[in-house]
Amino acid sequence: TTVEWEAESYDMGGHDTYMHKEIHEQVDAVDRVLRGRIDDRFSTVHLGGLNLDAREARGVRRVKILGCGSAYHTGLIGAQLIEELARIPADAEPASEFRYRNPVVDPDTLYIAVSQSGETYDTLAAVQELKRKGARVLGVVNVVGSAIARETDGGVYVHAGPEVCVVSTKCFTNTAVAFALLALHLGRIRDLSVADGKRIIAGLRKLPEQIAEVLRGEEEIKKLAAEYANAKSMMFVGRVRGYPVAREASLKLKEVSYVHAEAYPASELKHGPLALIEPEVPTVAVLPDDDLLEKNRATLEEIKARSGRILAVAHREQEKADHTIVVPRNEVELDPILMGIPLQLLAYHTALALGRDIDKPRNLAKSVTVE
Ligand code: G6P
Repeated sequence: TTVEWEAESYDMGGHDTYMHKEIHEQVDAVDRVLRGRIDDRFSTVHLGGLNLDAREARGVRRVKILGCGSAYHTGLIGAQLIEELARIPADAEPASEFRYRNPVVDPDTLYIAVSQSGETYDTLAAVQELKRKGARVLGVVNVVGSAIARETDGGVYVHAGPEVCVVSTKCFTNTAVAFALLALHLGRIRDLSVADGKRIIAGLRKLPEQIAEVLRGEEEIKKLAAEYANAKSMMFVGRVRGYPVAREASLKLKEVSYVHAEAYPASELKHGPLALIEPEVPTVAVLPDDDLLEKNRATLEEIKARSGRILAVAHREQEKADHTIVVPRNEVELDPILMGIPLQLLAYHTALALGRDIDKPRNLAKSVTVE
């Protein structure tokens, strides 16, 4: 199935920037990536363009996801979802690195190229190299009929609609949801139970309304952005499910506000970056309510002990944090999808407070189609 992009969707629709418009479009965009794909009878999903039959899917021994920038970060989320739901070892790597290191191409590995535009040269070059070496490559792509969509053996369209702002928001979220669908599909062909399939489907269906709820908190996030906008640098941390969210939030802030930011696994702080913590270097901590919450709280204490300020993104108020953005609870596997959304708003309002050119940040292009 393809979704027609209407000309009016390029309209600003009353928003001052495309970024703001696209952040708010996520409620409908997520609805679109789910539409027509869920099969309640078998608690699974159908992905029409995958071109991977059940026997082939069962034969997959590894998944390797390749992309650049925000697409790479959705790959980190995708790899985690595939490991969790389908129990296939999976990882993500920047396509730009992969293509330069003469990778071992393994016939039992399923390769997945992720790209909003479908035209990023590094990702396309990785796909072409993989194809030359006989690999099976799928695409998770937004732009229908783009180069990567054409060169891959099949894949999942993300259906985010046109994304105009250079930095990715709605496409990031929709791609993460597309990975959840793919992971669920692979999981149900392999070991995932009916009950878990039902649970994830129910969680996916809750996302649009929960995204709307996060967006209703925009005023509060705007105030927080004003408070943190003059930071010397920002540290973003998370563990496992929280970590890709931290990576993407850090990239988003850098791209759009030019505030320097770093992202680390929370567990790595004590191995070096803790040296940077001081009041002028606040930390954004992504805290899903999973079995790592206590560990994460201990990290917050370590930061507090160095007089660092903390902004937490969590499902309930965190007493160790100076501020908490409370995000509705869903299934833990889907936390990376929802927890990224308030941090898009944080980046947006930081950039706005600093008077940046939000839709066209300096030195960046929407897609890098050259070497
Ligand atoms: C550029 C953009 C990034 C984007 C990346 C990958 O560097 O500035 O925002 O994430 O390309 O783009 P793609 O179209 O492949 O997702």
